[in-house]
Amino acid sequence: MTADLRKFIFDDLQTVEGYLDPPDALVFLSLLQAQSDNGLNGGVAEIGVFYGRSYFLFKKVCNGEDKVLAIDLFDIDQQISGDVTQYSRFLDNGERLGLKVDEDLIIKGDSTQLRPNEITEKAGRIRFFSIDGGHMLRHVLSDSMLATDTLADHGIIAFDDTFNPAWPEVTVGVSDFLRDRQEQFAAFCMTKYKTYVCRREFYDFYRDAINNAADLMAFDHVETEFLGSKAIRLHNPMTRRMVYEVMVRSGMRSLSERVYR
Ligand SMILES: C[S@@+](CC[C@H](N)C(=O)[O-])C[C@H]1O[C@@H](n2cnc3c(N)ncnc32)[C@H](O)[C@@H]1O
Repeated sequence: MTADLRKFIFDDLQTVEGYLDPPDALVFLSLLQAQSDNGLNGGVAEIGVFYGRSYFLFKKVCNGEDKVLAIDLFDIDQQISGDVTQYSRFLDNGERLGLKVDEDLIIKGDSTQLRPNEITEKAGRIRFFSIDGGHMLRHVLSDSMLATDTLADHGIIAFDDTFNPAWPEVTVGVSDFLRDRQEQFAAFCMTKYKTYVCRREFYDFYRDAINNAADLMAFDHVETEFLGSKAIRLHNPMTRRMVYEVMVRSGMRSLSERVYR
């Protein structure tokens, strides 16, 4: 099954325009599997769908067993005719991948206007919440509050673009979140793009999940102190990233998975 999911991550998923790169896709997979293997149930939620790259990974891994709720403005590619092509491209991607979008679980609108019960009534308490919507401080503060209020006790929040210099307010928002809730939440994993946090009671569980995940063995595991906790930073050396890029650009996408073994 993992071989099938790895093929999906390195091949099929890359046909969806988007921002989830294979290392973070492998982290998503490893964390979702650790939760399922240990009976840590709940819905999955994402703010910021774009054309569905992370959404379809959630759909694939959850395999129809958990609700995957997604929130987006869906106003990109607005045509003069009034057709909104972001949403139709998202639906088309689902048809093409054989992962039909469950439209009852799609919320079209501004995430900062949502109330927690609009999420929990549709998907229950959330075990994995991906925040990748608006990238200004007010969005991150509002979205992280929404995630906190809907998260299962064992839930994870994945913050995107945490240290991207193009989006400095995301860095401030995630730092504020961790500083304000240091007693409750801790960062347990960091990648080049994302920071993963959980409640302190589950910190050891998720650190073990990252340390023991077979799909993450290719990365260097480096201890990094971040606002009151030690996170495992998964370092992905430049040489491997270059080999991966060369393979993808020269049409060897389906073989690129081997670079990350
Ligand atoms: C960087 S893209 C998300 C990438 C996606 N997670 C992926 O895997 O490819 C950001 C998305 O957030 C959405 N967005 C921006 N501001 C938002 C808001 N206030 N509420 C809901 N969605 C928002 C945009 O429409 C866009 O689709």
